[in-house]
Amino acid sequence: MQSYSLFAPAKINLHLEIIGDRADGYHQLVMIMQSVNLGDIIHLRANGTDSIRLYCQNPQVPLDNTNLAYKAVRLMQEKFPKSAHNFGGLDITIEKNIPVAAGLAGGSTNAAAVLVGINLMWSLGLTQPELRDLGALLGSDVPFCISGGTAIATGRGEEIEPLPDLTDIWVILAKYNNLGVSTPWAYNTYREQYNHLYVCDGQGIKQRTHAVHSGNLVKAILKRNSEEIGALLYNDLEKVVLPEYPFVSALITAFKKENVLGAMMSGSGPTVFALCATEQIATSIADIVEKNINDSNLSFWVTQMCPHGIITISNE
Ligand code: C5P
Repeated sequence: MQSYSLFAPAKINLHLEIIGDRADGYHQLVMIMQSVNLGDIIHLRANGTDSIRLYCQNPQVPLDNTNLAYKAVRLMQEKFPKSAHNFGGLDITIEKNIPVAAGLAGGSTNAAAVLVGINLMWSLGLTQPELRDLGALLGSDVPFCISGGTAIATGRGEEIEPLPDLTDIWVILAKYNNLGVSTPWAYNTYREQYNHLYVCDGQGIKQRTHAVHSGNLVKAILKRNSEEIGALLYNDLEKVVLPEYPFVSALITAFKKENVLGAMMSGSGPTVFALCATEQIATSIADIVEKNINDSNLSFWVTQMCPHGIITISNE
């Protein structure tokens, strides 16, 4: 097969809890991740040269070796040099629908699509767990993006345990176009302000992780109780990002005044999401909040929770 097109969904975090520091410099996390139907399309094509070439219309997306999609190709070439030699270089075209630097794992899901696509194109036969292990070498969110749906993520975020799918909940995403939050900044600021609360011993980490596994949000997900899910959203990074970005804080407040199930910042922000019971409610609340805030820099998307990660759309 010479070319593949893949759908790469964005993610939101329904729960993001920072437990402590890790020896590798990252944070020990326990998260509940959720894919949404807003996604990028990634086209992979063998280009008959030795080069990796990236194409994207969005000027915010780097087209060089700093792009995680590029790094994903390099990783596969290093791990599977024989196939890399046989198949040669790749052209990767990214149709960017997910806002950039938004806390929606846009870069990670593109890298995940490249790993899944190359696995198919080179007929490597790697399983999802094997692909997730490779993804973890690229970034903490890449393993989740590969399998997607609803899942608990622990460790750095790379250890994934699937939960039952949630597809009936609608999601409004809202982001100020001119606002980006640096993920390292958010985590480093959290460390500066909250490291006195960090738990770093094995037993303590186990207890905090277990508390989420057996906690009310997981119970609500198992019951598919959207009211409870909306009421139980949690994100530690709001504690450092919201005071620094009052616009984001005001956006959450604006959603909470309406008939939403819940509203919160996604990941390290600055995207805010609001959960709604129906598409009609989501569309009308997006309109109301857009009118109330009345800022041409603010963009809205209405989407739905998505039961999968990377999927193939076509191959030729
Ligand atoms: O893994 P990834 O490259 O996506 O992480 C981006 C940044 O987020 C890291 O450089 C680190 O500052 C922070 N991070 C962290 N602990 C994690 C995941 C990310 O401190 N578990």
